[in-house]
Amino acid sequence: HSSMQGHDTNMNMQEENTAKNSSGQLPLATDTKVLTGKEIHLTAKEALLQINNKVKLPVYTYNGSVPGPQIRVKQGDTVKIHLKNELPEPITIHWHGYPVPNSQDGVPGVTMNAIKPGETFTYEFTATVPGTYWYHSHQESAKQVDKGLYGTLIVEPKNEEKVDRDYTLVLDEWMSNPDEGNMDMSGMDHSSMEHGNGSDHQHMNMSGMSHDMSMYDIFTINGKSGSAVKPLKVKKGEKVRIRLVNAGYMSHQLHLHGHEFKIVATDGQPLNDPQPIKDELLNIAPGERYDIEFTANNPGEWLLECHGDMKGADGMKVKIQYEGEKGSADKANATEDLPVVDMTSYGKQKLGEFTLDQKYDVEYTMNLGTAMGKNGMIYTINGKTYPETAPINVKKGDLIKVKLVNDSPTDLHPMHLHGHFFQVLSKNGKPITGSPLIKDTLNLKPGEEYVVAFKADNPGNWMFHCHDLHHASAGMVTEVKYK
Ligand code: C2O
Ligand code: CU
Repeated sequence: HSSMQGHDTNMNMQEENTAKNSSGQLPLATDTKVLTGKEIHLTAKEALLQINNKVKLPVYTYNGSVPGPQIRVKQGDTVKIHLKNELPEPITIHWHGYPVPNSQDGVPGVTMNAIKPGETFTYEFTATVPGTYWYHSHQESAKQVDKGLYGTLIVEPKNEEKVDRDYTLVLDEWMSNPDEGNMDMSGMDHSSMEHGNGSDHQHMNMSGMSHDMSMYDIFTINGKSGSAVKPLKVKKGEKVRIRLVNAGYMSHQLHLHGHEFKIVATDGQPLNDPQPIKDELLNIAPGERYDIEFTANNPGEWLLECHGDMKGADGMKVKIQYEGEKGSADKANATEDLPVVDMTSYGKQKLGEFTLDQKYDVEYTMNLGTAMGKNGMIYTINGKTYPETAPINVKKGDLIKVKLVNDSPTDLHPMHLHGHFFQVLSKNGKPITGSPLIKDTLNLKPGEEYVVAFKADNPGNWMFHCHDLHHASAGMVTEVKYK
C-alpha cells in the first residue's frame, strides 16, 4: 500500500521538529499520511522536499509533507479542521471543489481574514457530496500553492462500492532553481488584485512571479519525480482506482500502459455509464480531478506516464507493479502519438439538471483575454482585471448560464468556480453528447467556447477564476455575488 492509501490511525505522527534545527536546516519532508475522523489537525510549516536524488527544495507544507495529509471523511459527517500556522506568512485553506458554507471557503479578504503566523483557525463543514477534492491555501496562492501548500480531500460515499486499491496521485511541477522564477517581482502590477475593503490580510495578490512555464522543469507525482515516485502495487484480478489531482499550473496528458480503464468521475462527480478505453491520453488541467478505474489483468510492470516534450515531463511517471508475478517490464514512450479522450462525448448521454434552451434567470458572458498591462502581462475577463471585473449578481434559487470564451492566443484558462458545481452544456456550439459533465474546474484552450449552467444554492461571495494562479494573480478573477 502506498502511504496515501490505507488508514493511518496514528494522528500524532508529526513528532519531528517543526522549527529549523540548530544548523539552520529545515527538516526533511515526510511521507503523506491519511487522516480520518471528525477532528483533523493540520499545521502549516516549512520543510525541505527531496524531489529526486539530486534536487531538494524548500517547501511549504501541511503537516510536513507534500502533498499534505489526505483528509478522508465519510459522507454525512461534520468535520472540524484545526489549522495552525507555523509559517512566516499568513495562510488559509480553500476546499477546492467543495460546496462548503461561504464562511469556510478560505478566501482572504472575501470570506475570512488570513491566518497570521502563530494563529490557529478551525474550519467546519458537513461532507454532503462524495468524491475526490483537494485543499490549498488561497493566500497569495500563486506562490503558496506553488511551494506545496496543498493536500487532498476524499469524501467516501455512504454505500461505497469497495475497490481493492485506492491510490491518489497529485501532479505538480517545480522549478529546480526557484530564485530565478521569483526575480522579476517589481514588474508585476500588484494593485490589480487588491480587494479594497479594509483588512490587511485580504490580498488575493499573488503576482510577482514569472509565469514563464518553461521555468517549471521538474514534474512530480506526490512530490517525487522519476524513479523516486513510489510504485503502485497491485495483484492480479484486483480492481484499482486512481484519483488524479492536478495541483500545478500546467495541463498534463497521462497514458496508462497495458490496461483498459474507465474514467468514473471528474471533479469528484460520477460519469454516466463510462466506457472502457485504452491507449488514449487523459488530459488533466490545473485544479481538475479524474478518478479512473481498471482491473489488474495484465501482470508485469507498467507505467502511468505524462506524454509531451516539455522539459521535465519524463519525471511524471509511476510504475504499476504486480505483486508476486513475473512479467516483462514496460518501456516509456512518451512521444507516441495517441488520441486524447474527448470528455464531451465520453460515457452515455442522459438528461442532466440543465439544458441549453431552458430559461435562465441570469446569463453572463466571460471573454477571457491576455493583454499587456502597464507593468507586465494581464489576464482579463471582458477586458477588465479583478476587482474591476463585473460580478455575476445572483439571488438564491436563480438558474445561471455562463458562456466562457477563451480569446487568448496561446494561454489555457482552467476556470474554477467556488462553492458550486456547474453542468457543461456545450463546447464550441455543440451540445455535450456523452455523460452529463458536472465540474467545478473547466479548461479552455485558445479559441474554445463553452456554455455552463448552475443553480445559485449556496449564498455568499464566491470566486470564479483561472486556476493558472499566475493568471488569477494578474487579473483573471470575478465573483458570484448573492444579493
Ligand atoms: Cu483551487 Cu480559488 O481555487
Ligand atoms: Cu488562465
